Amino acid sequence: MSEKLAIHGGTPVFQGEELKTLAPKWPVSHPETEAKLLELYRGNRWSVCAEYEQQLMRDFAAFQGTEYSVWMCNGTTTLECALLALGIGHGDEVIVPGVSWLATAQAPMYAGARTVLVDIDPETLCIDPEKIEEAITPRTRAIIPVHVFSAIADMDRICAIARKHGLHVLEDCAHAHGSRQHGKGVGSFGEFGSFSFQQSKLMTAGEGGCLITGDRRLADLAFRASHIGSSCILPDEPLKPGLMCHQYRFTEFQAVILCDQLRHLPEQQKKRIENMALAAEIFKDDPGMKLQKSSYDDDVRGYYFPTLLLQTQNLRPEVTRKDIFDAARAEGVLPAFLNEGWGEPMYRMPQWNMLPDRYVKHDTPVCEEVMEQRFMCSVHRLLLADASTVERWAMAVKKVVDFFLAV
Ligand SMILES: Cc1ncc(COP(=O)(O)O)c(C=O)c1O
Repeated sequence: MSEKLAIHGGTPVFQGEELKTLAPKWPVSHPETEAKLLELYRGNRWSVCAEYEQQLMRDFAAFQGTEYSVWMCNGTTTLECALLALGIGHGDEVIVPGVSWLATAQAPMYAGARTVLVDIDPETLCIDPEKIEEAITPRTRAIIPVHVFSAIADMDRICAIARKHGLHVLEDCAHAHGSRQHGKGVGSFGEFGSFSFQQSKLMTAGEGGCLITGDRRLADLAFRASHIGSSCILPDEPLKPGLMCHQYRFTEFQAVILCDQLRHLPEQQKKRIENMALAAEIFKDDPGMKLQKSSYDDDVRGYYFPTLLLQTQNLRPEVTRKDIFDAARAEGVLPAFLNEGWGEPMYRMPQWNMLPDRYVKHDTPVCEEVMEQRFMCSVHRLLLADASTVERWAMAVKKVVDFFLAV
């Protein structure tokens, strides 16, 4: 006999004042950053590749396992500038997964190319390598795999396909700071890795973006594409004719915040991994849900949005996703610890504004089905809480899902 749900008059797992204090504050403020911000504010270098930005250029690239990083105002402009640096534009096609944030699909359009949407893997929710191969045409120039939510795409297979067909790889790592596959940092597999530092991300300055690359010439081109043609990477090189250059600069205030955040990321990631292992133990073998998997057992994940997939075949047929979210809300696990999030593939989002002749959509049955089953946990800040809170959270989610199981 399952426990009485709060929505049916039972006792909520989390309630009242407790709800406000359980999940650590996000973003985390580090006291050592405050004095630096004040000093910076009183000084005269607020932008254009000053001291902290240069430090971040070195430190973040090294942290993810590459040599260069180029900083911009957000993780949408980074995707666009990577494509511009690769010389991708009019007449070219770029393959992206159907599930991501809109930026991944829009970047090729902004660069003048055509976006090709393909299906995802049902277990990892990342781009399905088989579907990439099926979508390749003579116009295909690049693939943008996304390490989405809390998984890492299968970079072995994606890089093999890219090599076979002579394609560029631009990894969208907006969700994956600190993630590694086979010991190698995400973003270092392809020509470029793109990161976002927007408010909700694992490292944040409110907004911000960066590209990492091991190729100095590409770093220079990306820098120029985002700094109206000038560069501090190869400053004496002439500007490449035809390179579209924007003003997408980053500020020193963002840099100083992120330099300190980078130092705290490894300890935060360790805690998230440990806490997620506790939750995974509680969810294990539950017939009503399973956790999003990553591509390889040795993947070290950042756990941005751990995602539960409802096993609808094992739930009562009349149950809807809304029933589950309503019950979770009554238990106090929503909205603080659980998030309905993106309940749809990109091309169904209300903000989808792609020009009809600028994209092609292949069949995406997995995107359609899996997004319906999704129960997204915006728990990266919860995963910084103490172990007992995380266990109570996981038990509360299990209480809700198990109630709706078909008997
Ligand atoms: C997968 C993905 N790519 C790119 C972006 C764009 O990043 P930004 O908001 O910094 O432009 C986001 C933002 O949420 C994202 O989730």
